[in-house]
Amino acid sequence: MWFKNLRADVKAAKNNDPAARNAFEILLTYSGVHALSWHRVAYFFHKIKLKLLARIISQLARFFTGIEIHPAAKIEGGVFIDHGSGVVIGETAEVHKGTVIYQGVTLGGTGKERGKRHPTIMENVTLSAGAKVLGGFTVGKGAKIGAGAVVLKEVPPYATVVGVPGRIVRIREPESEDSTHSGIIAVTALNAELNMEKEERAKEAARIAEEKRSGKKQ
Ligand SMILES: CC(C)(COP(=O)(O)OP(=O)(O)OC[C@H]1O[C@@H](n2cnc3c(N)ncnc32)[C@H](O)[C@@H]1OP(=O)(O)O)[C@@H](O)C(=O)NCCC(=O)NCCS
Repeated sequence: MWFKNLRADVKAAKNNDPAARNAFEILLTYSGVHALSWHRVAYFFHKIKLKLLARIISQLARFFTGIEIHPAAKIEGGVFIDHGSGVVIGETAEVHKGTVIYQGVTLGGTGKERGKRHPTIMENVTLSAGAKVLGGFTVGKGAKIGAGAVVLKEVPPYATVVGVPGRIVRIREPESEDSTHSGIIAVTALNAELNMEKEERAKEAARIAEEKRSGKKQ
């Protein structure tokens, strides 16, 4: 299982990093791959209730990689942590395969919740550099979280979220087997709604600018 996951992680690095040359180099030099392998050891010890040992392994991995993953976090094989420094993944977080996590990402809690208080990241999500996803909600399959975004609520599949607080700026059509007719209709409706919001914001900005201009003239 450990080797199967490691193989999936190396493959994910190869698929997602154009600079990756071969599996051997990835195994030797990619701190994201190292952090995930150490995490699986820590997760094993956490499961068998050797929680202090699990914590020590997790802290050692943090020391060497700059990536802090709580031993109880559930991470599938085939996740890629690129660069890695400053990544923090909390205790009740779940990360599914195909997800790419860049440096400075936090999968954390808001400090107000108990129990499940860290996010669940579904398959093939992009968490861009410095993104903070805070709370026990789900980020849907294929979503993209922009660099520096702070996400505080559920993200639908294939949505792009940017800004602070995070707002949806686009929902892409599912590219694969799940691009059903009803799915496409839902996406089209959501995008129309987003475009209307954008137009309204632009009109409001133009109105404010006009008011300022006429105020100056008087
Ligand atoms: C969000 C992101 C993934 C692009 O997703 P996308 O679905 O292709 O979205 P687009 O580029 O079409 O942008 C959609 C809108 O969001 C805005 N936007 C994109 N990224 C943004 C960000 N990080 N912060 C604020 N606004 C952003 C765009 O300006 C655009 O606005 P507009 O519709 O008013 O023109 C990308 O912009 C991003 O943040 N990439 C960072 C990747 C990274 O971390 N790289 C580090 C490598 S070391």
